[in-house]
Amino acid sequence: MIAPNLIQIVVVGAGLIGPRHAQHVNENPYCELFGIIDPSPATKQVAQNLHTEHFSSIEQMIVHCDANGLDYPKGAIVCTPNHTHVKVSAELASYGIHLLVEKPISLTIPEAKALKEYAASKNVRILVGHHRRFNPFILEAKNNLAKIGQVVAIQGSWTLRKPEEYYQVSPWRTATETGGGVLLINLIHDLDLLQYLLGPIDKIYAELLQKQRLQYPDVDEGAALTIRFKSGVLGTFICSDNVTSPFNFESGTGENPTVPLHSGLEGFYRIFGSQGTLSVPDLNLYHQGNHKCGSWLDPIVKEPLADIATVGELRPFDLQLSHFLEVIKGSSEPFCTVDDGISALMCIDAVMKSIELGAAVYLEDPKDVQPTPEASQD
Ligand SMILES: NC(=O)c1ccc[n+]([C@@H]2O[C@H](COP(=O)([O-])OP(=O)(O)OC[C@H]3O[C@@H](n4cnc5c(N)ncnc54)[C@H](O)[C@@H]3O)[C@@H](O)[C@H]2O)c1
Repeated sequence: MIAPNLIQIVVVGAGLIGPRHAQHVNENPYCELFGIIDPSPATKQVAQNLHTEHFSSIEQMIVHCDANGLDYPKGAIVCTPNHTHVKVSAELASYGIHLLVEKPISLTIPEAKALKEYAASKNVRILVGHHRRFNPFILEAKNNLAKIGQVVAIQGSWTLRKPEEYYQVSPWRTATETGGGVLLINLIHDLDLLQYLLGPIDKIYAELLQKQRLQYPDVDEGAALTIRFKSGVLGTFICSDNVTSPFNFESGTGENPTVPLHSGLEGFYRIFGSQGTLSVPDLNLYHQGNHKCGSWLDPIVKEPLADIATVGELRPFDLQLSHFLEVIKGSSEPFCTVDDGISALMCIDAVMKSIELGAAVYLEDPKDVQPTPEASQD
């Protein structure tokens, strides 16, 4: 039975991340899980476990609604493989269903722009799933950034090892043309966050890390980057999904149940400023007290800025979902817009081009890219 006062949400794609979104929908008192859509027969069991309907396609769900006099769900969370995001999202938009689209918004910028225009023509609102923007460690870091004075540089890493099964169960992850590779799947999160914290990136130089998984020659395992922001801030970043290391967002914050928390981890990001250094996720501020612009002659103090235990209790997926409900109602503008998604994608595009050219690449202005016509369902 459908509760009329609850916002109906359908989850599209029930692999690794879809059921997690669906679980959050089930737990949220203001919305209801309408069903899950996934062509894989194995996901019927996932629907059963979530006590919801299973549909093998969007079309099947629409036929079900029409046949039973049901309204279409108000919102959909798109959790399908990267290369399908635009097609799936456009089909949902054609029925006026608002969208939370997992990152990356698309594989190419023209496609993302076409989706943005098409969704607008259908009065459909889109939130892009860079959910880490809702992570309290990041929000605290942003709130405290002014304490380090003028930001000069940043050092960051997203380094760990994914298990072999990760590649075996979802072959789309093993080819760049279907959106595989750690740069598009994971680095995009960090570059989105760095832009969220420090403003737009202007220029990137990247070199690929040596490959170890020779059985998957078509996807990268990571890269080393130098980054320049428009503000003049410089940064270095290492991304690898094939090293033994806890220095990554998931291990440091414990926000992903798949990756065990590495308690007490310090400094997967270090932001260096004229008056201090801010370390994330530990949220320690290194400074010199009264010696505002002290030198190496003065001692450095390590000051914890927040109680990590308290900060860690908040759940970014819940916050993102609550925000999505506000976006659906029209009472909030998307916290992460299609333009933000495009901007993050442009960073990855620049990383890829830099690797190919062996040279630094300036980021294009998203305004200069023309949309492709393919996103429209009409
Ligand atoms: N925000 C995050 O932290 C996070 C984490 C993991 C994955 N993701 C993103 O979520 C998306 C899904 O990733 P995943 O790891 O869950 O992938 P997955 O391969 O585990 O699952 C994808 C599912 O989509 C289904 N599918 C394929 N085409 C479909 C279609 N046309 N309609 C409906 N279902 C379809 C597949 O059968 C599969 O069950 C990707 O875009 C990925 O980048 C985001």
